[in-house]
Amino acid sequence: MANGRLRVAPESYHPTIESGDVAPTASSTAPHARAARLQDIASAVGTPCYVYDAAVIRAAYATLDAAFGGYPHAIHYALKANSSLAIVRLLQALGSQADANSLGEVDVALRCGFRPDQIVFTGVGKSAAEIDRAVSLGLLAINVESPGELDRIDQRAVAQGVRARVALRVNPDIDAKSHPHISTGLRSNKFGVPIDEAPALFREMAARRGLQPVGAHVHIGSQITTLDPLRQAAEAVVALAHALADEGIALQHLDMGGGLGISYDGSPVVDPSEYVRTLVAATRNSGLQVAIEPGRVLVGPAGVLVTTVVDVKQFPGAKRFVVVDAGMTELMRPALYNAYHRIEPLARRDGDESVVDIVGPICESTDAYARDRAFPPVAVGDLVVVHDVGAYGAAMAHTYLRRPLAPEVLIDGDEWRLIRRRQTLDELLALETE
Ligand SMILES: Cc1ncc(COP(=O)(O)O)c(C=O)c1O
Repeated sequence: MANGRLRVAPESYHPTIESGDVAPTASSTAPHARAARLQDIASAVGTPCYVYDAAVIRAAYATLDAAFGGYPHAIHYALKANSSLAIVRLLQALGSQADANSLGEVDVALRCGFRPDQIVFTGVGKSAAEIDRAVSLGLLAINVESPGELDRIDQRAVAQGVRARVALRVNPDIDAKSHPHISTGLRSNKFGVPIDEAPALFREMAARRGLQPVGAHVHIGSQITTLDPLRQAAEAVVALAHALADEGIALQHLDMGGGLGISYDGSPVVDPSEYVRTLVAATRNSGLQVAIEPGRVLVGPAGVLVTTVVDVKQFPGAKRFVVVDAGMTELMRPALYNAYHRIEPLARRDGDESVVDIVGPICESTDAYARDRAFPPVAVGDLVVVHDVGAYGAAMAHTYLRRPLAPEVLIDGDEWRLIRRRQTLDELLALETE
């Protein structure tokens, strides 16, 4: 039973940019002060809650931007990672452009101040309504996923009397060496068109009255931790652009997608600056603008999930469980991908670590944040911090078991503010009739 003295863990809450060039300004805040602030926030808004640090996002953006070294580029923040309005606005204010994966995300981007010509729209199954609206908005590019979709966009553009700017999403059949559930660049994945079919489809696009081909797009997966697949994908689209230029089809940009991984467990990942320099090196002699669609690398390390221990139980001779008040409803990644997140008590108790499963309150066996993890002693009521949840945390949250959505807080310098309050049960039920 953990009942030792509580002290604030000095190593608590230390979001860092792994191998970034630009240090987050908030890192000057002493760890004790940051932990104390998380305690204050948790008391004020309750748990579970997401807490983001604006300085970490700014630093991650600055690192990517600076690495282009003046080469023409556009950073399209992938809203799918975290489309909370305050986060999207923060990125917009930094000069980012936007990558939307649904019409909802297009609308969030517009609402947060992005112009239509700063938004690229990707999506493997765009509905007729989505195509119609995307065309009428005049987005920077609709990323085309198939010959059928090419046709449908053309038809809607002709009907509207406009030419839609389109980019073709190519599938280069490259193994991103990421988790199979977030790999998208293999022939066996549903995304894009095989790259060898791309020249014919570009010819087709160039011939259509309703289409203006402006770019080629590739996105081979997410949480990619080695540079090689990203380099190969970039080289493949650059070679395609050269071949098209030889035929007189001049593109404006090459959209290299997102996918750069972050270090969830401290093991080495690709340096974001080196990644950008690799893309620029691959593209430079084409003279084309490089677009990227980073999500995770911009916001992932900026967020923590603060949760409270609600039970500690030991099965005799078997497992010890730490049950917290957050689960797969607030953070799907462990249940979806068996993903690893660093987890620690906000305040350390004296005593030895033991091996535990850290689990949520949801009635699903897959609702576990960590299994067989060495963990310091904790007691009911202690706060526990789950790191690196800024991307694909709140964005993937859901209300299974009628659990209202958790609040989100943004720290900016010495201030913090609630950017989404906790959903009430009445709000959750508001769409229903009895
Ligand atoms: C088309 C597209 N672009 C960008 C991203 C962002 O990826 P990440 O968050 O890994 O950078 C994704 C996510 O998988 C995506 O599907």
